[in-house]
Amino acid sequence: MIDVLFVVDDKTDVPAVLNKTSAMFSVTRVLATALEPGHVAGARVIVVHAALRSVDEVARIEDACDEARRRDDCIYVAKDTDRAGIVQAESVGIGRVVASHQPVEDVLAAIQGILNRELAHSLKDQPAQVVQAIESTGMLFRQVASAMRDDAPLPLRLLSASSQNIGAAIESVGLVEWINAVEMHHSQTCRHILMVAGYADAFARNLGLSANDTLVFTQASLLHDVGKLFIPISILEKAGPLTDQERQAIMMHPLRGAKALRRGGRAHPLVVEAARSHHEYLDGSGYPDRLTDERISPLVRMLTIVDIYSALREERAYKAAMTPRLAITEMAGMKGKLDPRLFAAFRDMVLNPVFGSQRSSRDAEAVSADDCLVNGLHPLDRATPVRNVARRATG
Ligand SMILES: [Fe+2]
Ligand SMILES: [Fe+2]
Repeated sequence: MIDVLFVVDDKTDVPAVLNKTSAMFSVTRVLATALEPGHVAGARVIVVHAALRSVDEVARIEDACDEARRRDDCIYVAKDTDRAGIVQAESVGIGRVVASHQPVEDVLAAIQGILNRELAHSLKDQPAQVVQAIESTGMLFRQVASAMRDDAPLPLRLLSASSQNIGAAIESVGLVEWINAVEMHHSQTCRHILMVAGYADAFARNLGLSANDTLVFTQASLLHDVGKLFIPISILEKAGPLTDQERQAIMMHPLRGAKALRRGGRAHPLVVEAARSHHEYLDGSGYPDRLTDERISPLVRMLTIVDIYSALREERAYKAAMTPRLAITEMAGMKGKLDPRLFAAFRDMVLNPVFGSQRSSRDAEAVSADDCLVNGLHPLDRATPVRNVARRATG
């Protein structure tokens, strides 16, 4: 399913709004004269950007929306003086009207409003902590995107709150429930970030990291792909094979993300480093800097493991999701690229049948543990042992 269907006529001049919308959402467009109910059924939001002067066009919009019962999900973009179009839109039951002279952001806000409503509906049976964590992370991403557009400071307080909310949600429902809830999110990019953050929190918990280490690691996981905000969704979520140019555009996201975070100021240096280096491999075959061994910090090594595992476990437009065992087998084949000790600890965690369903608060011994990641120390080189996950099962 795509996010937004633009219904246009042959006189519609839409590049500005279409370009901005397709940078944030998956988008397709169809001529009003060719609109079928299947188009409407396959989209979450319908933006009608046509003059609605032809009887045939109006009838097609009316029929398609009627059949799919989707009028609440429609937005009409009216020309400045298009009184007749507004009346026509209202007569077919399209309640939201945005004048085309208004900023494109108004159209984006109307689209986001409908998507938020849909998300809230799909989360209605989830525990409050889960809803709060998913909603605060969604808000974080909208604010980070607009901060980057406007060269404004990053919303660091919201970043901390989102990290803590994710930790609280996983404490409350366990990792498996968290992942199930996250899978309901309409945006592939948000799903990925929320999953990586969930696995990151669980991994930190499993290693018995300090509260400070856990917070920085979760923040790094939330912002690791922030450079993708500069890449159109049409490329990021493309179902078919990428062109060389598109692949190169995607491979720029670590540099663009780190640069934006540095410019936004005040992000923890490890968060900036994680955005830049999470695609580096110990054998020097990664990008963008082809770093090797000791030049890759323990936090980045942990993030790379969590990021790859999450990507393998996710369903994408171009691939099915792998089972945990298959994903781990695939990663075990990446010889020399991942930190072997951290990978072994992560493997034991995700393949432990009990771990994903446990609901428990952080142990006092972990809360008071010494910081290691923020000091560049390997978590497995300190005295505190990795927790025995089976011992902590609570069901
Ligand atoms: Fe990435
Ligand atoms: Fe990622």
